[in-house]
Amino acid sequence: VSATPAAAAPPADLVVTNLREVVTCDPSRSGGPLGIVPGGALAAREGRIVWVGPEARLGADVTVEPDTEWMDGDGQVALPGFVDSHTHLVFAGSREEEYALRARGASYQEIAAAGGGILSTVCATRAASADELVALALPRLGRALEHGTTTMEVKSGYGLTTADEIKMLEAARRLGALQPVEIHATFCGAHEVPDEYKGRTDAYVDLVVGEMLPAVTGRRLAEYVDVFCEAGVFSVAQARRVLEAGARAGLRAKFHADEFVPLGGAELAAEIGALSADHLLCARVEGVTRMKAAGVTAALLPGTAFFLGLPYAPARAFLDTGVRVALASDFNPGSSMGLNLQLVMTMAVSQMKMSPEEALLGVTLHGAAAMGLEADVGSLVRGKQCDVVLAAVPNWRFVSYFYGVNHVQRVLKRGRLVFER
Ligand code: NIG
Ligand code: FE
Repeated sequence: VSATPAAAAPPADLVVTNLREVVTCDPSRSGGPLGIVPGGALAAREGRIVWVGPEARLGADVTVEPDTEWMDGDGQVALPGFVDSHTHLVFAGSREEEYALRARGASYQEIAAAGGGILSTVCATRAASADELVALALPRLGRALEHGTTTMEVKSGYGLTTADEIKMLEAARRLGALQPVEIHATFCGAHEVPDEYKGRTDAYVDLVVGEMLPAVTGRRLAEYVDVFCEAGVFSVAQARRVLEAGARAGLRAKFHADEFVPLGGAELAAEIGALSADHLLCARVEGVTRMKAAGVTAALLPGTAFFLGLPYAPARAFLDTGVRVALASDFNPGSSMGLNLQLVMTMAVSQMKMSPEEALLGVTLHGAAAMGLEADVGSLVRGKQCDVVLAAVPNWRFVSYFYGVNHVQRVLKRGRLVFER
């Protein structure tokens, strides 16, 4: 597939030229799995892409107007804005002492059992106002944007009361309106069993399903529903209850599955037709094969294995099933205090043996699929949002190959320059 014919394209209000390459992440285009256009250019109108092609074709293919904005790409590489499909961005407090404890040999689960872990962040988050949660999360979002993230999923799950879960989701909504990164919220009331329900997990699930869920959907505060399906937290049966109730209320399921033990989360995701099953560090390949058949995206979060010092998910075995693999940060104060998706790609390649192409698709097109947003974001294709990262690199592979530094120079969100270094 080559450039779009001029006749069909509306006039551009933005044209970006002088790009070393445009990495479209459009597998239907020629130029390998990433649909790379060397010496490419792109054109947009009202925040959506109207044309991508070789700059030499721009004059013939694209209609410009006197007030069309021309942006000089400075010989940089253009990529789709990154899509972070799994984060716990909104929280109060921090847990750097757990990070230190793990270095002395404590495990994530031991720390959680001793009163640290999710419940310590629940304490801090319950004590914070919505204003405070917004003020804490705003600079984190700024960091994500400067590292190329233009779309982000954000979970609740540190409130664990109806009022505190709503407070978190209202903070997420306000954050979406206050800054350029596009936010999509997930209700994760079943993230942990709070102290006041200790030993009464089913009663807590009753509260999640009977009270929290209607309160959240009644206010239209979330698009997705999540549950921490894990030994000692929520069983497969309890997770199924929460996810099915969420689905009946219009929320799509994307959930924490098989993170620490092979509980059957992957199989559950396939059975209920989830949008994504996330983590899968311990998932059975058989379960992932069923996910592939059911069209469920596998969202792998290597930052968590990296940060906790655990073995990585067997990405190659999963990819061999044909399942779509997304990569996300899992940004949270306990298990993955990082949101740089360039570094996540490096981990995917060097530790999980994904190809650099698979890694880039993981944080773009497949991240979008993990959020059900593939019609709008995740690739540089006519009709999608003009969400673009401009990187100062000799070629796109340097974005993850030269690791631990930020290559992003500029970010466009819906055709607007929203970050420039
Ligand atoms: O994805 N596993 C559950 N949730 C997070 C950890 C959250 C926390 O430790 O605060 C995760 O790893
Ligand atoms: Fe998580």
